[in-house]
Amino acid sequence: MVIDQILSTIKKLKKKLTRRKPLIFSFKTDEPPFEYSSEWYDNAYHLGRLNLKERNFYEINKMYEESGYRIRLENVLRKIKVDKKKSIKWLEIGCHLGLTSYWITEKYPNTTIYMFDFSKESINWCMKNFPNIERAVIWQGNVEKIFFGNQTFDNEFDYVTCIDVTEHLPEKIYKNMIYEIHRVIKPDGLLILMQGNTPNVEHIHILEEKELVKDFVNCGFSLIKKLPHRHYLFKKNNY
Ligand SMILES: C[S@@+](CC[C@H](N)C(=O)[O-])C[C@H]1O[C@@H](n2cnc3c(N)ncnc32)[C@H](O)[C@@H]1O
Repeated sequence: MVIDQILSTIKKLKKKLTRRKPLIFSFKTDEPPFEYSSEWYDNAYHLGRLNLKERNFYEINKMYEESGYRIRLENVLRKIKVDKKKSIKWLEIGCHLGLTSYWITEKYPNTTIYMFDFSKESINWCMKNFPNIERAVIWQGNVEKIFFGNQTFDNEFDYVTCIDVTEHLPEKIYKNMIYEIHRVIKPDGLLILMQGNTPNVEHIHILEEKELVKDFVNCGFSLIKKLPHRHYLFKKNNY
């Protein structure tokens, strides 16, 4: 009897803790129609829906945390061994508002996060607002060619995250990006990959999960394991 009560209380608590609030975007009726371009991401996505000019990092972070994004990443990172004592170079592809970057730098204090996005507005906002700025290298750049100034990053990164990005990319850019990730990651370096699959207008490239995995395997990665929430851990093959 008492055990039943305890179990039911645990169940209720678990439900309460994992309840996710949906992300509330302000979809304006005058949102420009979707066309794949950095200008659309600047105006419709970052300034429009997310109203970046009016919001600081902590407001944005709270919104994403309440929607369960940080817990989702924590569940994934718990399944990966990262040496917290080693200094780590971590690349975050399509960094958006720096949320994944922030949660990584909070969890791993010896990490330098390299983060880029092709949206000028998101990058300007990150440069002004990103909390762990002393451990961040931030630039505006395209996934098709990963470089910053004269740094080309060949075989440089210990870890790469590509989360909620592939579904945004036209096929040709997506394919180029896979080769670029392969070029910049260290031999034996690790890639955490996840595609978003909600039916949003900008999600122009949602693949079957097995197709996504196959594309990375065909470009020189080995699938190490499936992680929670449709994330995948890959290693760059060491030829
Ligand atoms: C959903 S967000 C990524 C979320 C982010 N990775 C995170 O986990 O916090 C998708 C981002 O991809 C960016 N993007 C789309 N095409 C890109 C490209 N060709 N090069 C760089 N960034 C791109 C968009 O500007 C947008 O900020």
